[in-house]
Amino acid sequence: MKLESNSRTILPVIPGITLPPKRRVSVAIVAFATLLAGCSQTGARSGDGQSAATPVIHPAFPEGWAAKRERPPTVADHGMVVTNSPLASEAGVEILKKGGNAVDAAVAVGFALEVTYPFAGNIGGGGFMVIRMANGQALAVDYRETAPLAATRDMYIENGKLTQKSTVGALASGVPGSVAGMAAALAKYGTMSLHDVMQPAIRLAADGFVVDSALSHSLSSSGRLIKQFAGAAVFFPNGEAPAPGTRLRQPQLAQTLTLIADQGPSAFYSGPIADAIVAQMQHDGGIITRADLAAYKPVMREPIVGKYRGYTLYAMPPSSSGGVTTIEILNQLETWKTLPPFNSAAYKHLLAETFQRAFIDRNTKLGDPAFVTNPLAMLTDKAYAKQLTSTITPDRATPSPVFSAAAEPMHTTHYSVVDGAGNAVSTTTTLNSGYGSGVFIAGGGFFMNDEMDDFAAQPGKPNQFGLVQGEINAIQPGKRMLSAMSPTIVLDRDGKLMMVVGAAGGPTIITGVTQVILNVIDQHMSLPDAMFAPRVHGQAWPDVLTYEAGGLSQAAMDSLTAMGHNLRATNALTNVNALLRGADGRWVGVYEPRSTGAAVGY
Ligand code: DON
Repeated sequence: MKLESNSRTILPVIPGITLPPKRRVSVAIVAFATLLAGCSQTGARSGDGQSAATPVIHPAFPEGWAAKRERPPTVADHGMVVTNSPLASEAGVEILKKGGNAVDAAVAVGFALEVTYPFAGNIGGGGFMVIRMANGQALAVDYRETAPLAATRDMYIENGKLTQKSTVGALASGVPGSVAGMAAALAKYGTMSLHDVMQPAIRLAADGFVVDSALSHSLSSSGRLIKQFAGAAVFFPNGEAPAPGTRLRQPQLAQTLTLIADQGPSAFYSGPIADAIVAQMQHDGGIITRADLAAYKPVMREPIVGKYRGYTLYAMPPSSSGGVTTIEILNQLETWKTLPPFNSAAYKHLLAETFQRAFIDRNTKLGDPAFVTNPLAMLTDKAYAKQLTSTITPDRATPSPVFSAAAEPMHTTHYSVVDGAGNAVSTTTTLNSGYGSGVFIAGGGFFMNDEMDDFAAQPGKPNQFGLVQGEINAIQPGKRMLSAMSPTIVLDRDGKLMMVVGAAGGPTIITGVTQVILNVIDQHMSLPDAMFAPRVHGQAWPDVLTYEAGGLSQAAMDSLTAMGHNLRATNALTNVNALLRGADGRWVGVYEPRSTGAAVGY
């Protein structure tokens, strides 16, 4: 099956990592039995005190791998905030130190990221938040964008072909959910007012902050997109992105945030910010109306709960596919009492096969539960996982079936927060592509998402992430587009909070989060090791196994090729931010070694 992407580009999670020269792939069949030799016993206890924080260079990491990405973790006694932006992490800790809980801090982080990490926004976007309070109460807040009421199934198809309009320009935007979602989470489990938790973000926007090289570079690389729209005046005032060391003030955004802080979400959905959004939509040819904004509602859902080798996962149910797919992969892997050695061809083969089976279900059986039926009980059932794994051949890749659209039914950021009482929040938000659709609300000071591309804009044809999805995720007015975002909270075998994890990276979110969890639970890695360990990704269609350049030995690559896997190298996979509790009770935080960020604790 030939796949063409309609994308402008799939965003690299981090720029600047170059691929090695193409490796010679020779055929060397390595018997599965041989690879199984030396299997480690799976399912150990959670990271114990020292080892949770200490990088121990894993013997299975290829030579030079650790040196490339290893970063020291942050260890703290009380609380921890891990995000892709150091200033946003500090905003979260500022709220914790004022006595706020993890939900207060997470909402402060969400608004701060809008200011300091415009790449992923996110008041013009949407997201998902999984909360688990220390008393055991848990909640999944779905503030995914919705298709505008005037959206139609084939709105991005012209002459039978998908256009770029689902990724660039005003037609690409879904109705933003973040402001309503964060306010609802705060009202349910926060202890501080919206006004108070928004102060760090307002200060950062009004007083400005010093641009670092990552932001300067990110803006310059997206200059062609941003300069087409009103954001040019803010981010390219003299035609150039602010140089590192420059102070960036965003007075319009400060005013927008102040309105939300003072008046609540109604300022955004039916007040002056709604007016600014609608005016910009009319100017740029979009279809979001006042009625769309007024109708937007976040949905409070029960988290999806899964078990892996005695550990408990709280994860996001649809409209994200993240939780179901992660649990479906883990359930399959649990059918092996022992797993092949880490990073061996046999291990990567098992990952590839289980990813493939779970993604086939994801892409054809999941969608917005308000519109379609999701067979959640079946997909997360251990017996079903057994049935799936019974078709895995140890030494042969299963070719992905021809996609049937009628089958039954870059940019994002994740932050992990925990407070001293043991309340935990795992949040992933997105504009979809970097700087979203490029459309900037001039009268509001923020970028709008291009989330409409997460629908199957033309069922059976790939979106910008190469995801081939079915009718079940076709565009309908008011519907939420299926997401891969996987904010997850893991409890240890005693039911104690152990890990908060999630990621950015489109469909690689699911496989990246799963691998970090596996590395901790099965491989007993410290969190730094679990994070910088080489990753692989497969999503059934295209029928390709993507690996990180330098992350697999030549022998493993040769064996995988011989098994029939179509290997493709990439610079880096997935942008994960995680924290883990050691046996000594201290929190270990690690931000993505492939990206920017900070783990700040106290
Ligand atoms: O919801 C989703 O699955 C996508 N919109 C996520 C996009 C993403 O992670 C891009 N970032 N790197």
